Amino acid sequence: MRWILCPLVASMLELSQAAGGITDDEQLLVSDGSWHRNQRKSISIETSCYYTTMQDMPYGCQYARAYDQSYQNEFQRKAEKAALLEFYNLCGGDFWRNNDNWMPETDPCWDYWYGVTCNEHGYVIKLELPDNRVRGILPSTLGSLTSLIKLDLASTEPDYHLHPNDEMNRVEGVMPSMALCFQLEEIEVSGNIILRLPDDLYLNADTLRSLSASRNLLRNLPIYLSRFQKLHTLELDNNRIEDEFPTDMGQLRNIRIIHLQYNRLKGSITQDIVPMNKIRVFDVSHNPELGGIIPEQIIVDWAEVDYLAILNTTIAGYISSLCLDVPFCWKFMYDTHKDLTWATVSDVPDIVGMTVDLAQTNFYADTYGGR
Ligand SMILES: *[C@@H]1O[C@H](CO)[C@@H](O)[C@H](O)[C@H]1NC(C)=O
Repeated sequence: MRWILCPLVASMLELSQAAGGITDDEQLLVSDGSWHRNQRKSISIETSCYYTTMQDMPYGCQYARAYDQSYQNEFQRKAEKAALLEFYNLCGGDFWRNNDNWMPETDPCWDYWYGVTCNEHGYVIKLELPDNRVRGILPSTLGSLTSLIKLDLASTEPDYHLHPNDEMNRVEGVMPSMALCFQLEEIEVSGNIILRLPDDLYLNADTLRSLSASRNLLRNLPIYLSRFQKLHTLELDNNRIEDEFPTDMGQLRNIRIIHLQYNRLKGSITQDIVPMNKIRVFDVSHNPELGGIIPEQIIVDWAEVDYLAILNTTIAGYISSLCLDVPFCWKFMYDTHKDLTWATVSDVPDIVGMTVDLAQTNFYADTYGGR
């Protein structure tokens, strides 16, 4: 559709796409402005400055003044640059796959330090260095990136088609507190050798939407889980988590994806899980000591669930009798006549049609988003 746009709009689109902020042409054209406001917080310095009018142009948008002493020495900017440099030094920056422009005499925002995205005030909003040979313990000063929205230090797979992934990150030890990152929405640190998430991660509960720390050496779940009311993704599979299954997990009202497979969870699943009714994927497989019963109430209340996985657990009950020996138990496997007695005849869904839809949706999700 690009060819029917006037050149100005087309070039604006290109600019914003190049900056990685706005990508959906259609959204851009039909939005009443709310979409822009929503995106606003996660677009980069160049894009946000592009949309900023001259009159109220913030200091950070003026390249000519990016080296002005008063700008460089502004307390928060100085602290952020120092934190990035300490992180670089502690985590083997000289050996990173890509460390473009990470030089002390340059500016992290205006000089495009690789993996760093800033807002128009010159504060870091994203630090994204996946598969970049980041190795070592994260400095506590990382928590002074107070505008941070996204932290991505993940390693993808250990190998690709038998070729070892030499760029894997190896972040180790205890993650520093991010308590002052009041906007933090996403933490992606899968595939490292992290022993502990920040002890006070619950202080990010008001904003955190996605927590992925699969394939690490974690022994514990975050505490005060019920505070994480924004969380939609919790991926802590393939760790060494030995906790009792938390009674407050069901209080995660917005949770859609839970991956806890391949841990050593103990305790029991109870009626307490029923309230998390937006759940789509619930995978607690390969936790041999995890017991209890998946309550049949989820057949009604988990209306959007795609599959649950309880293989290699000791969970009992009706749903378990259908699901315990399959790796992925699709909704249609247990959502059959027995438990549709609650529905009136007209409510009874077309199971065959649903089955096909589900299979397609999940094939897509697995192919596209699986890890
Ligand atoms: C069962 O789960 C444990 C712990 O995650 C794992 O080590 C083991 O390989 C699993 N067993 C099977 C048969 O998959």
